[in-house]
Amino acid sequence: MQNILILPGDGIGPEVTKQAVKILDHFGGYNLDYADIGGIGYDNHGTPYPDETDAKAKAADAILLGAVGGPKWDNIDFSLKPERGLLAIRKNLGLFANLRPALVFDELAAASTLKHEVVSGLDILIVRELTGGIYFGGPRGIDDLPDGQRKGYNTLVYITSEVKRIAKVALELAQKRNGKLCSVDKANVLEATILWREEVEHEAKNYSDVELSHMYVDNAAMQLVRNPKQFDVMVTTNMFGDILSDCAAMLTGSLGMLPSASLGSADAQGKQPALYEPVHGSAPDIAGQDKANPLATILSLAMLFRYSFNDANKADAIENAVKTVLAKGYRTADIMSDNCTLIGCEEMGNKVVSQL
Ligand code: IPM
Ligand code: MG
Repeated sequence: MQNILILPGDGIGPEVTKQAVKILDHFGGYNLDYADIGGIGYDNHGTPYPDETDAKAKAADAILLGAVGGPKWDNIDFSLKPERGLLAIRKNLGLFANLRPALVFDELAAASTLKHEVVSGLDILIVRELTGGIYFGGPRGIDDLPDGQRKGYNTLVYITSEVKRIAKVALELAQKRNGKLCSVDKANVLEATILWREEVEHEAKNYSDVELSHMYVDNAAMQLVRNPKQFDVMVTTNMFGDILSDCAAMLTGSLGMLPSASLGSADAQGKQPALYEPVHGSAPDIAGQDKANPLATILSLAMLFRYSFNDANKADAIENAVKTVLAKGYRTADIMSDNCTLIGCEEMGNKVVSQL
């Protein structure tokens, strides 16, 4: 039996993951386990990434995470903040490839702040490098200078193998989609991304069926809101991917709709570490009020079936159930529009289950 580790985390994390668990219960036949991460990890174990969580994460066949963070932990030491738990699990499991699809459901095109014709039918995939770049590079820190000022610094660094492996993932995904890959960098200013561009170019030589282009990140941000449908797959660095994926998320109308997958390299036995999570955060302002949109988490579960369990049937079934529920006019508050029925998190979960 396959083992799925659930990491509910903080804020709305527990309520949205609970809805995905209802779907797993409905299918049956999976071993579920739970562990703490983020603020709840700090509260219960004194660290946002407890050893027990790390051990369970490494043993699991796939992980489903809710969200981490909240104002409750604003004043604790930087190294113990909830977000450090997320960064630690990514690094410890080697989850270098972060897939963030931005798909506009027909029913929700009106929820976007962009014009209908700009976003309707949109289907892009951002592939973000997740364990390198400025997020993890050294030296880093905040130092006191002799003249009484302080110096804050981080290091943007990429090595060949890191760029090649993420380029390979993106190129293979482009092959399975519309055969177009846009690599986003700042090669007009940053040496680390000159290397990025060259290594992506190099790797792409092995994929003659993929049409590769390059774009500077500032232009990419502009093109994403000007004409997002020009893109198929985009591949970029850790920090650029963080920023562009939030931007792409809003094209779809709500951050509450966007799933993600974070994948590592398969080991000798073919076991590939994989974590699935909604792109939205912990939304502490609405936590525990049954207002959260569980669809991003439910769609993350669909990605889990597709990528970790090679079970396209269940993935399709979940995605179709979500579409049907939206077509019937059910909405959580974040995607509410005229003539629709407002429902809560629990009820949205139940509606999806009843469609399956
Ligand atoms: C994300 C988040 C995280 C990131 C934070 C919470 C550390 O913004 O997953 O995009 O910056 O990677
Ligand atoms: Mg982010």
